[in-house]
Order: sequence, then C-alpha cells, then structure tokens
Amino acid sequence: MDRIRIRGGRPLSGEIIISGAKNASLPLMAAGLLTDERLVLTRVPILADTSTMGELLAQHGIAVEKTTNDGHTLSLGGPITNTEAPYDIVRKMRASILVLGPLLARTGEARVSLPGGCAIGTRPVDLHLKGLEQMGAVIELDGGYINAKVAGRLKGATIVFPMPSVGATENLVMAASVADGRTILANAAREPEITDLCDCLVAMGAQISGIGTDRLTIDGVPSLHGATHEVIADRIETGTFACAAAITGGSLHLTGGRLDHLGAVVSTLAEAGVEISETPTGLSVRRLNGLHGVDAITEPYPGFPTDMQAQYMVLMSVATGASMVTETIFENRFMHVPELNRMGASINVHGKSAIVRGVPFLSGAPVMATDLRASVSLVLAGLVARGETIVNRIYHLDRGFEHVERKLAACGADIERMPG
Ligand code: UD1
Repeated sequence: MDRIRIRGGRPLSGEIIISGAKNASLPLMAAGLLTDERLVLTRVPILADTSTMGELLAQHGIAVEKTTNDGHTLSLGGPITNTEAPYDIVRKMRASILVLGPLLARTGEARVSLPGGCAIGTRPVDLHLKGLEQMGAVIELDGGYINAKVAGRLKGATIVFPMPSVGATENLVMAASVADGRTILANAAREPEITDLCDCLVAMGAQISGIGTDRLTIDGVPSLHGATHEVIADRIETGTFACAAAITGGSLHLTGGRLDHLGAVVSTLAEAGVEISETPTGLSVRRLNGLHGVDAITEPYPGFPTDMQAQYMVLMSVATGASMVTETIFENRFMHVPELNRMGASINVHGKSAIVRGVPFLSGAPVMATDLRASVSLVLAGLVARGETIVNRIYHLDRGFEHVERKLAACGADIERMPG
C-alpha cells in the first residue's frame, strides 16, 4: 500500500488550484439517475469515492463516460436497468445511500445495502428512511438491505428533520423533485454542496425554492431533463490548504477557493492569526505573526465543519496557548489524536472535547491514517514536524483529496508518495 513521506519545516508558497468538491460530486452523480437524458458534470475530482459512485451508477445501468482528457468531465446517461445497490460497493462508501431516493422516485423500487457503521461512529440512515416513508414508501430492512417500494409515484410531504442531515436532505430533495405534489423540508441542512445539488436539479427542470436556507420547498415535476453543471470548488480542501499555509508560516493562493463557502472557518482562523482574503480568482492565505489557541466547536454549516476539525487541531497543536476543540456532529472522530500525540502534540480528549495545549514543535514519526480527514491532518502535521514523517494507509487520503502530495510539492513542500 502506498505511503507518503514528508520532511517538515518548509514554508509553503505559490498557487494551488482547488479541485471540485467531493461531497458535491457524489450527490450530483446520483442525480444522474433522475433522467434518461445526459447529465454532464464538469470539475469532478478524480478520487476513489467518485470512481466508486461511477461504479455504482454503472451497476444501475447508467453509462458513465469521461469526456475530456483530464478526466474531470463526466457524462452520465441512460435508463435505469437495475435497482439494487449491492453490499460490495456500498460498504466502500457510505454516500452510496444517495442512490436510494432517486431510484425509488424513478422506478418505484430500490434495494440498497445498509451502509452500516464506520470508523467515525454509527452514522445511521433513519432520517433518510423516515422521510421516504412520509412520502409514501414502504420500507423493510432485510438481510442487511433496505427494500423500498412505492405504488405509483412518491407523494409530496412536509418533513421536519429532528436535526440537519446533509445526506438525508440530498436524498429527499432528489426524490421530491420528481414526486407528486409539494414537499417541504424543514430544518434541512444547508451546506454549499446541497445548494450546488439544488442548482443542478433546477437546471434539470426541478422546481425548488428556499435554496441555501434550512427550508426547501420542492414542487414535483413529472420528469427532469439533461443539463450541464460545474461542480463547486471543494471548501474542505480549501480550508485544509489554508491550514497548510498557516502552519508552515507560508502564504498560498488558493485558486477557485470561495470565502462565502468557508463559514466559521474564516473567523476562527482569523482569530488564530491567519489572514484569508478574497482575490479576483480565489483566496490568498497567510499567517500574520504567531498562531494563537482559539476554541472551535463543530456545527452544521455555516458553523465550523466537522470535516475541518482534525486539520484545525494540528494548527492548534503548535499555537501559543491552549484551545478546546469540541466535536458535536460525529462520535469517535478524534482518532487522529493518538497519532498527533506520538508526534509530540499535547492533546487530551474528554468526551466530545479535546484540550489542545500548544507545543513549540512536532517531531516526525511513522503514523497511521484512520479516516479521510484524519489522514490529511497527519500530512499537515508532517509539514510542520522536525524530521521525517511517514503516513501509512493513505487509501483514506485518496478517497477525498486529489493529488495532495503533488499540489503541496509544487509549493515547496518536501513530500513524496512511496508506492507500496
Ligand atoms: C456528510 C459528508 C461528510 C460530513 C457530514 C457532516 C458527504 C458525502 N459526506 O455526511 O463528509 O462530515 O456530512 O457535515 O457529503 N444522522 C442520523 N440519521 C441519519 C443521518 C444522519 O442520525 O439518517 C446523524 C449522523 O450520524 C451524524 C449527523 O446526523 O451524527 C450528521 O450526519 P449527516 O449530515 O447526514 O452526514 P453525511 O451526509 O453522512
């Protein structure tokens, strides 16, 4: 298995082009199930997760073609020929659940393997299922599979989420687009990736209002048509490279990065001593003087994203003073902590919170990536650590970050992939 070797201590400088957002691309690809016409998506990142979604769509009968040499444009099209999402694909990626709503809405049936638990907690799908049931679906769980059926079309309903869920909002907005009548999704998640999905659905002929808010109103239409849509830039990649610039005391231009998508990351990093400013083509990031300890609590958008928590903790590890980082979205999302402590960080976890006491420096060490965001946090730690860091098990990194080592090396980092 590939590993990444980093020799720390070099300030980064230069330009990084931000890739299309993984978390926007996955639901957008699932939206390809909502029409037999062509859906063309541009700026799709080349990642293990987007190719898993491509594999899943192909299994349902959708032709998935890369239509440009760089591989970032996907053309999806074709009728659904199979409504089963098998365990072998779903187990690789929880976001596979996003095919459930579109399959059911289009064909009246779907059989989707339950994603099950994963390393960052139990992550149930009850909100997806309850919402579809409110729209008239009959759902049974059998042998690890979700069997869903509806007689005729799904019916519009008013669905009030007990808490915002990104995936459930996406699944239901897709299903509601081609349901009978009006669906209202209240207390919906409003992450930029959901707005991107809604914008694409509208381009396909859907009628959605309240886009960008926590209350979406969807008037179902009989069918959607083809469209061409550009995926938004990845805000988590943007925030991660902002941390990379800050932690190494360098400055980076993040081309394509959007300030309005970073939410609380901007003010939190500003308080910690990192300046992020808009330019005509993206964002410019630099560390002002020293880094200061600043508390952060993960929350649904526009709060501080859970997907930035591990990276931010690395920044706090070498800041002056202490900070408390609280995780409210997922249980068990502090698996990077023991690895960071092995590199000399001083972090204590107490339930949902971690106390990070800043240390003058980290030391390179062999470390193990445990999940997607944790693995990139270890790369960040390697960039600032004295000596050599080897990050093992980087398949997690390849699920979510496109060419991370190439992008960092081009800005002066001493980093290379070692084929395993
Ligand atoms: C998405 C993102 C992931 C991000 C997360 C939170 C994708 C592909 N993944 O994941 O990177 O970390 O949003 O921003 O976009 N929950 C339930 N029942 C449900 C659904 C969710 O209890 O039916 C809980 C989850 O366990 C979690 C919380 O709700 O505690 C939020 O999860 P959700 O927003 O659904 O995250 P995902 O869509 O899985």
